[in-house]
Amino acid sequence: MRVLVTGGAGFIGSHLCEYLIEQGHEVICLDNLSTGRISNVAAIRHHPRFQLIVADIREEDLLSELIRQVDHVYHLAAAVGVRLIMEKPVETLEVNTFGTEIVLKHASKFHKKVLIASTSEVYGDHNEFPLREDSTRVYGPTTVRRWAYAASKALDEFLALAYHQERGTPVVIVRLFNIVGPRQTGRYGMVVPTFVKQALMGQSITVFGDGQQTRCFGYVTDAVEALVRLMEHPKSEGEVFNLGSDEEIRIIDLAHLVKEKTGSASPIVFIPYDKAYGPGYEDMHRRVPDLTKVRTWIGYRPRLNIHQILDHIVEYYRQNPWD
Ligand SMILES: NC(=O)c1ccc[n+]([C@@H]2O[C@H](COP(=O)([O-])OP(=O)(O)OC[C@H]3O[C@@H](n4cnc5c(N)ncnc54)[C@H](O)[C@@H]3O)[C@@H](O)[C@H]2O)c1
Repeated sequence: MRVLVTGGAGFIGSHLCEYLIEQGHEVICLDNLSTGRISNVAAIRHHPRFQLIVADIREEDLLSELIRQVDHVYHLAAAVGVRLIMEKPVETLEVNTFGTEIVLKHASKFHKKVLIASTSEVYGDHNEFPLREDSTRVYGPTTVRRWAYAASKALDEFLALAYHQERGTPVVIVRLFNIVGPRQTGRYGMVVPTFVKQALMGQSITVFGDGQQTRCFGYVTDAVEALVRLMEHPKSEGEVFNLGSDEEIRIIDLAHLVKEKTGSASPIVFIPYDKAYGPGYEDMHRRVPDLTKVRTWIGYRPRLNIHQILDHIVEYYRQNPWD
């Protein structure tokens, strides 16, 4: 099969491209290298079934032509990461809404199946746990900038479902919950690579807020395999799935675990949110997915727990200290 992966030179996208090549597919990877990197696809760059196109998803004629040529579209290109959203809200909103609209419009025109990479952020600031695909969304006001990312991704979902319901476009939506692994960069505020790098370099491990907030971390290769199975499932059209891990850990415990795994003497320090991100930041206290649906549909079960995940990531950054 021929597939297009937008954002394919990013963290998850590059693992997805590698997996698709392994599975015998022909892969076109489109990426503007804003947060993605050519080095992420170094292992497959010269593979005869892989093609990298450096371009923006907002280049509509190009997107149209590429979508025409392929069977499936994995749409991962987006402005990602809390820091980016806080610093560049216009770019975030434009790429995440206008970009997705272009992808959906042309997927609809050529009747190609699209997987939309959405996010746990769409649930907003919830008190209900675990979060099911049909849980309500709880957002702060539009004056609080951090909600722009959640709202942009929620709009992508509305649009994808609208295309499906009104025009029969085959779409599947996957809400990713904190996926981590090798190649994820800490530059844009991602907590796991940031902690691991700080610990390995002997710098202070910076916990934002009081560290009592919890997250669940899923491993990238588990996620990528599930994305492909959801895309290839004959009945997944028009469906929304949570994907990640439901093993919950407090951020302060994560910091201690990283210290232990790296053998680091780094102190753990607490930084208030407004110092970390500027005024107008609200964090979610917990975010735990209900994975019943993805488990029922494709038998998904995360293979790695947080200890094994951290072992892999620590090893990766020991081998690639400048990554
Ligand atoms: N990593 C996670 O935990 C997580 C959680 C929820 C959702 N997601 C979603 O998964 C997808 C991939 O995220 P990631 O973690 O791999 O981040 P990433 O930043 O590594 O990947 C995004 C990729 O999109 C590319 N991109 C951005 N704007 C573009 C544009 N205008 N045109 C072309 N390419 C563009 C970037 O260069 C990058 O390679 C995103 O849609 C993100 O919202 C990720």
